[in-house]
Amino acid sequence: MQIINLKTIDSVATHVADILIQRIHEFQPTEQKPFLVLGLPTGSTPIPVYQRLVNAFQEGIISFKHVVTFNMDEYVGLAPEHKQSYHYFMQEHLFQHIDIPQNQIYILNGMALDLETECTEYEKKIASFGGIDIQLGGIGENGHLAFNEPKTPFTSLTHVQQLTQNTIEVNSRFFDSLSDVPTQALTIGLQTIFNAKQIIIMATGNKKLNAVQTVSSGQLSINCPATLLNNHNNAIIVCDETAYPHN
Ligand code: GLP
Repeated sequence: MQIINLKTIDSVATHVADILIQRIHEFQPTEQKPFLVLGLPTGSTPIPVYQRLVNAFQEGIISFKHVVTFNMDEYVGLAPEHKQSYHYFMQEHLFQHIDIPQNQIYILNGMALDLETECTEYEKKIASFGGIDIQLGGIGENGHLAFNEPKTPFTSLTHVQQLTQNTIEVNSRFFDSLSDVPTQALTIGLQTIFNAKQIIIMATGNKKLNAVQTVSSGQLSINCPATLLNNHNNAIIVCDETAYPHN
């Protein structure tokens, strides 16, 4: 794992978008490997990256025809039309602006009647494409990745997750009131993230400082899920100077 220390939120977004644009641009589909598989996050951090991907598509630099996406997580109980659902977020910030076929987009269904089956089927679907090539992610203030809260085993696969009070409070900024925030989510597991061939995590703003410092100490601790990145041989955390004010 490597920390890449940049100055501004803009430089973080440009750095990450450039990696993705290059990989999408270079990808040559073959019979054995017809799709580049991206793992995608929501949250405010990836929005400027998505803007850059949309721009690159509009400028004709990249196409998403040979890209398959798996979103990291979704709230339990929110329909895709709900403005705070991650389905809605992804359409608004990325999918409706690009040429990805809708049947190459996978997002966990938080309305599924059988949530456990939804999770096991999602893992199977990821495996059917040969796993995730590039997993993009943000980081929670408490070090969570996707919705894997502290104490989630590093070996976890896609599962139903009870959200911590901290996460509910942090995410309540997007809802009318605290009581509107779902208390459960579906999330890919830490093992699912770790299985990705390449992991790119972004951390911007000083609220992420504690989490980034814990990871950079080199420890592996289930109290800070993102520390699992320390064991991965192709993972980076791209930070702005407020999230990692070293150098
Ligand atoms: C949510 C998402 C995470 C995301 C985190 C940070 O909890 N489930 O995937 O990384 O928020 O969000 P933000 O980028 O807005 O700080």
